[in-house]
Order: sequence, then C-alpha cells, then structure tokens
Amino acid sequence: MDKFHIVGPSRLVGRVRASGAKNAALPALAATLLPDGEPLTLHRVPGVRDIRTMMRLLDHLGIASEESEGGVVFRRDRPNADHDAPYDVVKTMRASVLVLGPLLARFGHARVSLPGGCAIGVRPIDQHLKGLEALGAEVHLSHGYVEATASQLRGARFRFDMPTVTGTENVLMAACLAKGTTVLENCAREPEIVDLANLLNTIGARISGAGEETIVIDGVDGLGGGEHTIIPDRIEGGTYLIGAALTRGDVTLEGSSPADLAPLLDKLAEAGAKVETTESGIRVTASDGLQGCDLDTAPHPGFPTDLQAQWMALMTSADGVSTIRETIFENRFQHAPELMRMGADVRVDGGSARIYGARRLTGAAVMATDLRASACLVLAGVAADGETVVDRIYHLERGYEGMELKLQSLGARVARWVV
Ligand code: EPZ
Repeated sequence: MDKFHIVGPSRLVGRVRASGAKNAALPALAATLLPDGEPLTLHRVPGVRDIRTMMRLLDHLGIASEESEGGVVFRRDRPNADHDAPYDVVKTMRASVLVLGPLLARFGHARVSLPGGCAIGVRPIDQHLKGLEALGAEVHLSHGYVEATASQLRGARFRFDMPTVTGTENVLMAACLAKGTTVLENCAREPEIVDLANLLNTIGARISGAGEETIVIDGVDGLGGGEHTIIPDRIEGGTYLIGAALTRGDVTLEGSSPADLAPLLDKLAEAGAKVETTESGIRVTASDGLQGCDLDTAPHPGFPTDLQAQWMALMTSADGVSTIRETIFENRFQHAPELMRMGADVRVDGGSARIYGARRLTGAAVMATDLRASACLVLAGVAADGETVVDRIYHLERGYEGMELKLQSLGARVARWVV
C-alpha cells in the first residue's frame, strides 16, 4: 500500500487547475446506459480510481468506452448484456448504485447489490427505492440485492424525505424515460446535479429546475447521443484553496466557478483569509492571524461535508476555539485522532468537534480512513514541522487526480512511497 512522505512546513504558492468532478462524472457515466445506441462523448473525465471502477461496471453492462480527442466515447456494444451490478463492484464503490435508475428506465429491469455500510456512515438508499417505486417500479430486496422491474415507468410527484445527491440523480435519470411528467420535491441542489441535468438535456431529455428544490421532468420516448464536458471538481479545488490558507500561502485556482465554491469562499473570508475572484481564477492568500470560526455542514448551498475534514486541519492553525457540526454523516470525524497525533487539540462529542487553535502541527505517521480524511492529513503534513507519512493513500486515489504532482507544483515536498 503506497504512502505519501511529506516534509514540512511548506507554503503552497502558485496556480492549480481542478480535474473534472468525480461526483459529476460518476452519474454522467451511469447516464451512458440511457441512449438508444448512439455514442455519448464525455470530456474532462477525471483519472481517478472510482471512475475506473464505474467504467468496469459499465463494461459488464455492455457499454464500451474508448479514449478519443481528449474525451471518452461511450457506446453500447453488447445489447444483451446483463442488467446487474454485482456485489464485488458495489462493495468497492457505493456510487455504483447510480446504474439502478438508468437500467430500470432503459430495460425495465435492474438487479443491483445493496451498497452496505461505509466508513463515514450507514448511508441507506431507501429514498432511491421509494422514488423509483413512485414512478411505478416493483422493488424487492433479496439476498443482498435490489431487484427492480417496470414494464413502463410513469411520471409522478415524489418528495424526498431529505435532500439526497445520488438519490436525486438516480430518480431524475429514471424519470427521463417515464411516460408523462414527474415532479421531484425536496431535491438536492448540488452543482453536480445541475451538470447531470445539462448532459441529459443535451441528449434529448426535458428537465427543468435542476439546482432548485423542485425539479420537473417531462418524460420522452428515447434519448440520443451527444457530447458533454464535466464541470471542474469543486471539492478538489476547495482542498487546494484550504491548503493555501493553512500554509499561509498564495494559490490561484484556475477554471473553477466561484459560485460553486461560494460556501467555502465565504468561510475562508470569515476566517480572515484574503479571497479574490478574477477572470484568471480564484486566489486565496493568508498571513498569520486567521480566526477560528464555527461551521455546520449542510446540503448545497450550505458548507459541503466533503470539505469538513480539510477545514478542520485549517482550524487547528487559527486563533481561538471553533466548532464544527457535521450534520450529514454520523461518523465523519475519523481524521480528528490522526490530527491529534500531529499535535492538534480537537475534542469530538458525537456530531460536533471543538478545535482549540492556534497549534503548530508536527510531522507524524498517520493513517487515512476515507477519501476526504486523507486529503486533510496530506494538507496537515504540508503545513507541519518535520516529516509526515500518510498511510493508506489508496483512499485518496479514489477522488484526487495526481495530488502529489499538483502539490509539488505549488511548492510542497511530497513524495509517493511505493510499498
Ligand atoms: C454524495 O453521496 C457524494 N457522493 C458524497 O461524496 C457526499 O458526501 C454526499 O453526496 C453529500 O454531499 C457522490 O456524489 C458519488 P446523500 P450520497 O444521499 O448521494 C441520507 C466524497 O467524498 N440518505 O446526499 O450518498 C444519508 O445517509 C463522497 O466524494 C438516506 O437516509 O449522499 C446522508 O445522511 C462521500 N437515505 C444524507 O441522506 C437515502 O436513500 C445525505 O446523503 C439517501 C440518503
């Protein structure tokens, strides 16, 4: 298992560009199951492990993918392929459940393994299933699998019990081929959902209201092919901007939308970092004297839970005491004890963590437990005095393309130890 060896402290200085968004590319890949046979080309598909896993699943489901002119062309090449997502794949990446809606809508049948537990929380998919049942699907759970069938999905009104990102995406994709109009309420409003709706409308769907609480989908008989460019990854980009503040550096993120990052940029400004958005990018600089400030994670446009761990690293260096309330996932503070190994003073109590700043972190051997926790520890290692070794970076590779190279280009001393 590879590790990162980091020598700190370093200031992050320079320009960086985010790759395509993992959490926009995953539903986009699932959507390649929908077209009637015409190819769908996706640009800016990030080279991360979760994407490779999804491509393997698509291949199993009869969708071939081929690199071409800076994009990836997806086309159905085995019409009689299975319509099931096996446990072996789903257990490695729960987002595989995103093939459920498209398979059901396109073929009237889908068999998808239940995802099971996850390091950061229980993460049930009941809302996905209730949404598909509202469209007329028969859904059964047996032997660890969801079996869903529908001779024809029908438009309906459905209200999610809570805003769920992949739940909204799954039901949205299914509703595109349902007979009649579907109205989805209490939807998640993440930019990745807007990107998916833009892709689907490009290939012939009729969706309005994506990014709002209520989305309306007029079903169509079939979807064609087309081309789409995935939005930049706001979580990856946000990670480097938090790194700029933590290391008291000066980083410009090129090509990302300030609107998608607004919840983070507002918090960085509140903490005392300087945030400038210009044509050439989003620039974050920080000198000493950052202020601790309290934060609640929340569905978009609230502060993203996927930046919570990185934010905690920043708060260890800020003056005063700050509190983070994690409201989305019940077990997402596993980075706290690792930060404490580096000299941070963090006290976790259920869904809240109090961080006693301003501490100079010291390098240590630490262990990554999930994707965003690993990003937090890497940033902490760049800012810390001395050597840090981050173990289990396979978590990081799920969602960060070439992180050590991007950090090196910003002046960090990070090396991969191939073990
Ligand atoms: C998406 O997960 C992201 N993953 C997650 O990113 C992200 O943390 C999360 O949204 C929240 O922003 C992808 O897009 C692939 P939810 P998702 O359904 O869709 C509960 C990363 O680091 N819920 O919006 O699985 C659920 O338990 C990953 O890139 C139900 O109870 O999250 C949670 O408490 C980690 N029943 C809340 O809703 C359901 O059927 C929000 O979860 C669905 C969700």
